[in-house]
Amino acid sequence: MASKNFTIIGIDSSCDDTAIAVLEIRNGKPSILSNIISSQVKLHAKYGGVYPMLAKREHIKNLPLVYKKAVKGIDVSEIDAIGITVGPGLEPCLWQGINFAKELSGKLKKSLIPVNHIEAHILANLINRSRTAIEFPAICLVVSGGHTQLILMKGIGKYKLIGETRDDAAGECFDKTARILGLGYPGGPVIAEMAKKLKIKNYKLKISLPRPMIGQKNYDFSFSGLKTAVLYKAKEGNYDKIEMCREIQQAIIDVLIHKTIKAARDFKVKSIILGGGVAANDELRKQFKLKIKNYKLKIEFLVPPEILCTDNGAMVALTAYLHRSKTAKNLEADSNLRI
Ligand code: KG4
Ligand code: ZN
Repeated sequence: MASKNFTIIGIDSSCDDTAIAVLEIRNGKPSILSNIISSQVKLHAKYGGVYPMLAKREHIKNLPLVYKKAVKGIDVSEIDAIGITVGPGLEPCLWQGINFAKELSGKLKKSLIPVNHIEAHILANLINRSRTAIEFPAICLVVSGGHTQLILMKGIGKYKLIGETRDDAAGECFDKTARILGLGYPGGPVIAEMAKKLKIKNYKLKISLPRPMIGQKNYDFSFSGLKTAVLYKAKEGNYDKIEMCREIQQAIIDVLIHKTIKAARDFKVKSIILGGGVAANDELRKQFKLKIKNYKLKIEFLVPPEILCTDNGAMVALTAYLHRSKTAKNLEADSNLRI
């Protein structure tokens, strides 16, 4: 029997992107009607990182504009609910999205559903896929500018955090090392582009960087030592920037893959799920697939299309849809919200 269509708006302003999407769920299958992202990259590039109060001001300006674009051609009376990221993220930024969503909910007379940004990065994998496509248990690796977490997932809404970074996140390491090398912000995509310039196969790099915590039995990460090692090498001078970028990227990839596969084996999972901005990294995606194949692991590997790895409203809309009974009125920002 066909179930009712559901149309939902998703809003995210947790960091430096103002993102609003409209998602339609027809017979349980989600499809994106619009997915608008206004990036503040140029603004923050000058500083090599995100300044929360500057980002907040941009959100105030961008939210109504992004909303207008997102609902263009859509009959807003058909909207069933609004999903909004309440955390984790930068508190002043989260509040702007929440205030906007509250006002919109009053105007459209539709309920609000609070969304955890980390869960949204995981569930981004379900957009354009049927829900039953994920085989549980799964190990989720959420790698973004603010987080590096390994999460054991037994179903939608059933999560256990098993490891995380003790200092910098993987994306933060890309961003900070790119800044050291004078490459701009965000660091992930620029370092990835530079690394691609080294075309010789099996080339022996002259630079070698540490793989922090790779040999430890836990599922935690640490990336600040890697950043410091890059800082020292950069100060010493006399290095090739392309080689340095290749080695930074490979050091991060080695640690992420090693720890994730260890967790997948230890917990005998059926799927490995990636999410977050760093999951957009080509080499990371390629090397994950290769490792799973070479180790002959019977594990399904899921990663969203690149546009759904970095912050977006569609992942928020889908997460809210999957928790649509959990409506709330008095939403508050929680910058340290845990999964
Ligand atoms: O998920 P996201 O958009 O925002 C947060 O929730 O933090 O992730 C942003 C992070 C940044 O640190 C950025 O450098 C990194 O994701 N990133 C990448 C790539 N694209 C974005 N890192 C490595 N390779 C990429 N292609
Ligand atoms: Zn994110």
